[in-house]
Amino acid sequence: MQVPFFTLKFQHEQIKSEVFRKIEELYDRTEFVYGKTGKEFEENFALFNEMAFACAIDNGTTGVELCLRAAGIKQGDEVITVSNTFIATVAAIHFTGAKPVFVEADANTWNMDPAKIEEKIIPATKAILPVHLYGQPANMIEINKIAEKYNLIVIGDSAQSVGSKIFYNEEWKSTSRFADISSFSFYPGKNLGACGEAGMIVTNNSNYAKFINMFRDHGSEEKYIHDFPGKNNRIDAFQSAILNIKLKHLDLWNAQRRQVAKWYFDELGSIEEIQLPAVPDNVLPVHHLFVILVKNREDFQKYLAEKGVGTALHYKLPIHLQKAFHHLNYKKGDLPITESIVERNISLPMFPELTCEQVKYIAKTIKEYFCKN
Ligand SMILES: Cc1ncc(COP(=O)(O)O)c(C=O)c1O
Repeated sequence: MQVPFFTLKFQHEQIKSEVFRKIEELYDRTEFVYGKTGKEFEENFALFNEMAFACAIDNGTTGVELCLRAAGIKQGDEVITVSNTFIATVAAIHFTGAKPVFVEADANTWNMDPAKIEEKIIPATKAILPVHLYGQPANMIEINKIAEKYNLIVIGDSAQSVGSKIFYNEEWKSTSRFADISSFSFYPGKNLGACGEAGMIVTNNSNYAKFINMFRDHGSEEKYIHDFPGKNNRIDAFQSAILNIKLKHLDLWNAQRRQVAKWYFDELGSIEEIQLPAVPDNVLPVHHLFVILVKNREDFQKYLAEKGVGTALHYKLPIHLQKAFHHLNYKKGDLPITESIVERNISLPMFPELTCEQVKYIAKTIKEYFCKN
């Protein structure tokens, strides 16, 4: 059996005629940049996230950077974040001139460990930037307690967690409600993926939203009148239209991912050589990726590939050990839990249409591997 790591084939077949009709309509009325369609997508996305403002932008890297800029983060400031993430989280901090400061990951959930944050706070610390890694919300309840105590801004990197929720005060709430401002990526492989590049920022802070709406449009509210130097970070109308169509299916696709994850937990739970992600009762993840930890992952990955099972590594090297952030002067051993997670992680196939039969085949293949090794 062949099981791809990821495919968009099924969801794209499902919505193809609606997407093509909409693209043709936009093409005919020459609506290409932001426009009515971008605005409509923002309104729908704000509602979906239970937030007052949504600002559509060109990608999720811009998203994190503009969250930081909107919150006034600048040179001389420090921002606490994690090292087991995609590089964009940390690069965005770098581009504001602020210094990224890494905090350890929790050994079970692999998200930011709130117990390790306070020791990193100094007077220059201005914000905490947790990543909801692999689609699972970070421990926002504890992170917010610390942020409140030290008067820090909370910025969520929600690139991987669109649709995730946290149970708090007797109710499931959108993860976005637990941050002052959050950024999303609609890179094609994300749970809500464009057919190109796109991103979004959500917040309840009208000043933040106003800043972002102006910055993404050359610091302008009125055409050719510029209050400050900004950039062109606007979303395309085609992408907005496609994302608007996909958004209607997202709750179902996320529920299907949770079903796939449940099959994985059932099938792999008894294998001693594997560490599965811990999912606290108060979070509803969206399983952007289904990641497990194993020893000798290169050998394991090779075996799965020989048996037709696609896998990927998220990620190969923690950010504090990447050449790009050499100047921060971290060395191997500085974040031992993070390093141990990143050395062992491997992402198994995950997409909404994955079948129980395919998951059973993957589990059987994994069991065979551990019998032989
Ligand atoms: C955690 C995280 N942050 C930021 C980004 C950046 O998003 P984009 O690729 O849309 O720029 C990504 C996307 O891969 C991501 O996974």
